[in-house]
Amino acid sequence: MDYTYLDCLALFGVGGAHPGGLQLTRNLLSSEKIDETTSVLDVGCGTGQTSSYIAEQYKCKVTALDCNKLMLDKAKQRFSSLHLPIEVKQGSSEDLPFDEASFDMILSESVISFTDVSLTIPEMKRVLKPKGVLLAIEMVLEKSISEEESEKISNFYGFSQLRTESEWYNYFQKAGFKQISAKKSNLPFDKNDVQNAPDFSLSEKIDDEFYDIFAEHEHLTKVYKDALGFRVFRCCE
Ligand SMILES: C[S@@+](CC[C@H](N)C(=O)[O-])C[C@H]1O[C@@H](n2cnc3c(N)ncnc32)[C@H](O)[C@@H]1O
Repeated sequence: MDYTYLDCLALFGVGGAHPGGLQLTRNLLSSEKIDETTSVLDVGCGTGQTSSYIAEQYKCKVTALDCNKLMLDKAKQRFSSLHLPIEVKQGSSEDLPFDEASFDMILSESVISFTDVSLTIPEMKRVLKPKGVLLAIEMVLEKSISEEESEKISNFYGFSQLRTESEWYNYFQKAGFKQISAKKSNLPFDKNDVQNAPDFSLSEKIDDEFYDIFAEHEHLTKVYKDALGFRVFRCCE
């Protein structure tokens, strides 16, 4: 059976599976206006590390959505062990199960690339309130690589393609966002920073094949460290 990179993240139950991890998330949110009245949607929440952080830190209304049942089961375990009143929904970012103008903020941490971008971004715009903010962390192509290499990376991760910063910008603009910024993060990585480290919620049985997938991810990250970067996109009206 051919497993995907996302199957692998779900089985290992990786929390904070986005560039910059929880440290970047905390940093981003600290510049936003969030209080108990704010409604936040975490699209592609994975095992819910970020959703939990937001609910604990800001005491606001958090909804966590993912299409993967195993991820959501692990997220639910996390929320219930922390007694957090987070609403959990299974669904796709390409057809969000919410009314228009439902949320003040949408967070999407390393998710859109895995989806049909031309459906996901307009859906996010639709369910955001008019003054709402979308924060998206996404992989970007920093310099050109051969088509073969690009295809190899996209196939491994399950992306339709790799995109440059300006290609991402165009998608957000086309969906109707008018104020769009793209920032590089240069937060220093501290391997002793336990508070912000990724966490794991391992499934009982993990085949060797999954360790190979992780190894390939590490390999690609190393080989393409100059070609693959990421940006934090902040989009609003
Ligand atoms: C790289 S993980 C990131 C998870 C989480 N945001 C984090 O930072 O830990 C990508 C997540 O997006 C979810 N995902 C992929 N395609 C999706 C879709 N169309 N709709 C909703 N979630 C999706 C996957 O199931 C996975 O949990």
